[in-house]
Amino acid sequence: VKTDLVSHEAGTPEASLDPSTPAEWEAVRAAGRRLVDLLIETHQTLREQPCWRPPPAAALATIREPAPLEGEGLATALADAERFILPYATGNLHPRFWGWVLGGGTLPGILGQWMAAMMNANVFAGDQGPVHVERAVLDWFRTWFELPPDASGILTTGASMANLLGLAVARHHATKGAVKTEGPEATQGLRLYASEATHSSILKAAQLLGLGSRAVRLVRAVDERIDLTALADAVREDRDRGLTPFCVVANVGTVGIGALDPLDALREWTDRERLWLHADGAIGALGRLSPVLRAKLGDLSRVDSLAFDLHKWPQVPYDAGCLFVRDGEMHRAAFEVGAGYLGTVSGGFSPHDAHVFHAYSPLLSRGDRALKIWMTFKSFGTKRIGEVMEANVGHAAYLAKLVDDDPSLERLAPVELNIVCFRYVGDNAPADVDTLNERILIALQNSGFCMLSSFRTRGSFCLRVAISNHRTRRADLAELVERVVAEGRRLGGLQPHG
Ligand SMILES: Cc1ncc(COP(=O)(O)O)c(C=O)c1O
Repeated sequence: VKTDLVSHEAGTPEASLDPSTPAEWEAVRAAGRRLVDLLIETHQTLREQPCWRPPPAAALATIREPAPLEGEGLATALADAERFILPYATGNLHPRFWGWVLGGGTLPGILGQWMAAMMNANVFAGDQGPVHVERAVLDWFRTWFELPPDASGILTTGASMANLLGLAVARHHATKGAVKTEGPEATQGLRLYASEATHSSILKAAQLLGLGSRAVRLVRAVDERIDLTALADAVREDRDRGLTPFCVVANVGTVGIGALDPLDALREWTDRERLWLHADGAIGALGRLSPVLRAKLGDLSRVDSLAFDLHKWPQVPYDAGCLFVRDGEMHRAAFEVGAGYLGTVSGGFSPHDAHVFHAYSPLLSRGDRALKIWMTFKSFGTKRIGEVMEANVGHAAYLAKLVDDDPSLERLAPVELNIVCFRYVGDNAPADVDTLNERILIALQNSGFCMLSSFRTRGSFCLRVAISNHRTRRADLAELVERVVAEGRRLGGLQPHG
């Protein structure tokens, strides 16, 4: 066998990327130990560190250096990462990180992720530990949500992807599979319904699925809870116009204020109307682990498809989400494309009865997301994770009360789960209260004290505090209120009264 490009003669280097001397192996051990030390130090000193700080120019310069032709070695790479990257992350390890809806992660989860990296597994299929672990955690979820035995699940990067995949299955069902062969022609006239408080990932999904955002009807919501009469009117109107309603998305916690759609009423109505019910449970679905919260959510066992996140409230390190589809065969049919090189045989790694995850999503190669989930729940148990969620709902109620009791603050939304939206409206507030509150937000972020994000509700800009954080204490929230008021006084006074 000859090739013009490379030689196979004796003496040609056959260089592995592994260490080759005892000293090189020891250097890797030292780097690993340093990493463990950093892990512990970082977590033990979280309260003393700023919640967030922007990467300085020197850090950016190092990060952006061109890839070296000759390697600099592990010790240098690790030292640079420790100095220029580690201190400038999102900040969601911090006890006062309340921006967007981010989980804080846990040490067992991090170690699980580390072990997953160590295996470098490809969880596409086969008789291998990581496939069995993913199947095991999916079985846990199936039990928690009381879904039927033939429901099928798959881990995803997050709820955005789970929503996309869930709606792809709904589209497959609505076109009786024709979308796979006919493409967009088969989806003409399909219409999807969700409340106006629905997450942008639903619109993204409709766009990516070739339905277009015009196929999504965002129905009126009251305090972000879908108005069932408006929904029924929209569906009737569309049918009268010759369109084909096919799916309703229910929010199990809206991204803005954490509102819950009336899931049971939606199920009864969509059953009557023969519509697919997809639940976006990114924020709230796993509240089911708490007996107290479970009662608020509605019966998730009855939906056709369910998207939820592990990296938010359950505190699994990023990234990890999940899709469940009630009809597992429909799930598989929506994605499977036979390929000879992925065939199963009568034994070995790919026996006929091995699970083929690649048939349940567009992905072939998939990293291991299951082990960090397995480690998290094995270490803490479902009870304790449920208690964290309950505590966060208590935190939100506590913050809401502090806001309500302070005349210089105004709460702008009801608090159903773990999100509080409010603004500063003290005596010195100018007419442009929105800009003042934006400046308060930026000042708080830059101070390193906490991370909040913003939202607009009832026509106003507000400070949004989403507490999916197992490290938060009530005292942190009391101090937040003090600081918002102090910043409001300081910054409001700087502006001309309007
Ligand atoms: C209600 C809702 N749906 C979907 C998503 C998207 O989830 P992810 O960021 O995991 O993709 C979010 C994210 O905050 C959300 O709040």
